[in-house]
Amino acid sequence: MVDVFRHDVVIVGGGGAGLRAAIAISEAQPGLSIALVSKVYPMRSHTVSAEGGAAAVAREDDSLEMHAYDTVKGSDFLGDQDVIQYFVEQAPKELTRLEHWGCPWSRNEDGTVSTRAFGGMTTKRTWFATDKVGFHMLHTLFQTSMKFGDIDRYDEHFVTKLLVDDGDCRGVAALDMRTGEMKAVLGRAVILATGGGGKVWPFTTNGNIKTGDGMALAYREGVALKDMEFVQYHPTGLPGTGILITEATRGEGGYLLNSEGERFLTTRDYGVGTKAELGPRDMISRAITQEIAAGRGVKVPGKIGQYSHLDLRHLGEEKIDSRLPFVRELSRTYANVDPVHEPIPIRPVLHYMMGGVDTDIDGATELGGLYAAGETACVSLNGANRLGSNSLTECLVFGARAGEHAVQYIQGAAAGDEARFVAQVEAEASRVEELRGRRRGGEKVSKVRESLNDAMEAGTGVYREQASMAKAVAAVAAVKASYEEVSLDDTSKVFNTELIAVLELANMLDVAETVATAAVNRKESRGAHACSDFPTRNDSEYLHHSLVHHTPEGPRFDKKDVTLGVWEPEERKY
Ligand code: FUM
Repeated sequence: MVDVFRHDVVIVGGGGAGLRAAIAISEAQPGLSIALVSKVYPMRSHTVSAEGGAAAVAREDDSLEMHAYDTVKGSDFLGDQDVIQYFVEQAPKELTRLEHWGCPWSRNEDGTVSTRAFGGMTTKRTWFATDKVGFHMLHTLFQTSMKFGDIDRYDEHFVTKLLVDDGDCRGVAALDMRTGEMKAVLGRAVILATGGGGKVWPFTTNGNIKTGDGMALAYREGVALKDMEFVQYHPTGLPGTGILITEATRGEGGYLLNSEGERFLTTRDYGVGTKAELGPRDMISRAITQEIAAGRGVKVPGKIGQYSHLDLRHLGEEKIDSRLPFVRELSRTYANVDPVHEPIPIRPVLHYMMGGVDTDIDGATELGGLYAAGETACVSLNGANRLGSNSLTECLVFGARAGEHAVQYIQGAAAGDEARFVAQVEAEASRVEELRGRRRGGEKVSKVRESLNDAMEAGTGVYREQASMAKAVAAVAAVKASYEEVSLDDTSKVFNTELIAVLELANMLDVAETVATAAVNRKESRGAHACSDFPTRNDSEYLHHSLVHHTPEGPRFDKKDVTLGVWEPEERKY
């Protein structure tokens, strides 16, 4: 028999979106019981690693309309304009609320909140706390969540399956990593907030925990994943490790240089106009890639590959230490350069997934009782390219909205037949037991994951082409088949991290399948999907969201309308 735990709402994920949803539920209806299930201790969630800031209108030279337009244009007209409108309206309220909960935003001399420039934004609207924004935001949310007595945490519990009966989701099957036992965590609504799946690619800013878990859980229950072809390469990652060097470096005035010392974004036409280093990420990543391809990359011996330089020297030590202390620390520790005296080596690195679980503006999915928020979800805020600093705010705005709507949903929702859910968890327990005991002398999980990483890098990089994307579809299918041959060296129950890696790999494979499928079906270039065979945007055929459904026969591709509004699609130039 598995242990059963009953709550009103189950949240999967303890990062920015999950914690914000939990607080929203507690505030909306005090006394509701909330389960916060996370495979890590919440302060280890990936939100903690965010550096540069969170966007919201704060200055007199700014307006909600400007923030909305920048976001629509940044999305290459694939963001839903009703969602964007709601987002920009709520953004200042959310960041102010966070301040009241204790978030130490950096200030101007006169005491007002300081904001910095970020790519694709018309004016300075990125709130920050030096360059450790995620750390401060997550602390604030976590500590605030502890005020509420009805949030029960299930730390270090790995969710293996959503519990669905008769078209409604009513809980999760969770593996307690500390004991190796399965639990049924039941609720009348479930909110997925597990972040993205950057580890599907080999070179990424994402922590090891980002394996697309929530996306895969929803996908396997028939919920479509939306706009998965759009993955964001951040222009400035440290070669070798992929560690993020925040866009705030460019917001504070940093330059990008090629091997000839040329500030190429100002001397060559990469479509960013006078924005130069403050162009949107998709365009700047392409510019760096082209510079390297043209032979103007910095060459070093060894395996690290070529890169460009990010030059902060002209900012001076005082500014670097006061506004970008973490960048200095990271550069010294991981690249052996001091940005006060030397340029930082950087190259584009996989950073963020614009796609995710298809939700409406309330965070609701097509499955009764199932919600998603944050990077796990695709509420269609970011379209084909996200603007830097919109995503932390997205976690707050749509985490809160999903929480509030889940509260409304459960008012009329029955708990369902507990025995049937328990039977599902027992079946999961047997499946996980079988995996744990697999010693067939087959493939190592690391080897299979490497093959997946290679396939995705080759097929879905900064630039794609039809042939390489088609190859990625086939390669992912082949790697998926080899998953059945994975075997474990560690058969223990307590903290079996090899078993967790095997479960995560299954999630990564499902996510990869949807990315490759959506990519090969979009025969145009839009935002982060830069297709060499179809170099221009084609609104007459492709102004639609992509949907990928899981079926026993394989992924099924479909489309969904984009919600337009006051801004008609136009050529995207800066
Ligand atoms: O560069 C950065 O600090 C990243 C910010 C973001 O992805 O929003």
